[in-house]
Amino acid sequence: MSFMNGGGNPQLNRHGELNHLLTIEGLPREVLERILDTAAPFTEVAEREVKKVPLLRGKSVFNLFFENSTRTRTTFEIAAKRLSADVINLNINTSSASKGETLLDTADNLAAMQADMFVVRHASSGAPYLIAQHLRATGRDHIHVVNAGDGRHAHPTQGLLDMYTVRHYKKDLTQLTVAIVGDVLHSRVARSQIHALTTLGVPEVRVIGPKTLLPTGVERLGVRVFNDMREGLRGVDVVMMLRLQNERMQGALLPSTQEYFKSYGLTPEKLALAKPDAIVMHPGPMNRGVEIDSAVADGGQAVILPQVTFGIAVRMAVMAMLAGN
Ligand code: CP
Repeated sequence: MSFMNGGGNPQLNRHGELNHLLTIEGLPREVLERILDTAAPFTEVAEREVKKVPLLRGKSVFNLFFENSTRTRTTFEIAAKRLSADVINLNINTSSASKGETLLDTADNLAAMQADMFVVRHASSGAPYLIAQHLRATGRDHIHVVNAGDGRHAHPTQGLLDMYTVRHYKKDLTQLTVAIVGDVLHSRVARSQIHALTTLGVPEVRVIGPKTLLPTGVERLGVRVFNDMREGLRGVDVVMMLRLQNERMQGALLPSTQEYFKSYGLTPEKLALAKPDAIVMHPGPMNRGVEIDSAVADGGQAVILPQVTFGIAVRMAVMAMLAGN
């Protein structure tokens, strides 16, 4: 890959520090742990015990969301503002992208406005890579790129905030059994979770879903595959639910959502097969009654809303590590 520029990880500079955050795959464990450790003190800012810190004062962060978002876009904006950055949210629907401007022309024009960071969500896998590669090729590698979700490829800050959440509730990741349940095939979140969990030393990562929604050869990522949800949930410490990514499905991969819920929806009865202190996570948006029962989503074991709050702290950590004064 030309972006590799002669080898190494394209996200790291020659000192091994983060320059872009494009994917968790291939990032060393120390880098992941450094991000999680850096996020810890920012939880006070995320929870508003401390109002703001000046680490990104004078910097401009551009949010470029070419695909819809509630959590990621908003928490990136909050995180950047609490780091004292100037935040510019490009409204893609009213931008010149709708007149046919290319992604790289848009990036060039925003770079000319003295951007320091692009936070990019795009329906096409690889779009943030393309921007980072272009910036490097044109001598503007000082502009940092953060992948906020690209197609079905990666959602690294979601994977990191999920690890932060697991570490918060379970402390030691090296003793855990974690199940990822649902539409792994179309999920960028699942890919980032799997890379993060295996890199951080989680000894057993299970993926649970129907054959049609699990990627061929997924076990090569270091996971155990279960098609029977009840069997897969037995004795787990953490349950990570996934949404059915209907927008990325081609053709009929499921008989019906009712059938899906019967087999793979997380109900109190199925959750009872996990450890009694198991936590339930979901990246959102949730589809209640499809992959998760409301009794579980709103129940005592769910940590779905704390995930969102931790997302602010983790995104602050990533941005501070990339561009902090
Ligand atoms: N988890 C997540 O990426 O949610 P949004 O699509 O709302 O950003």
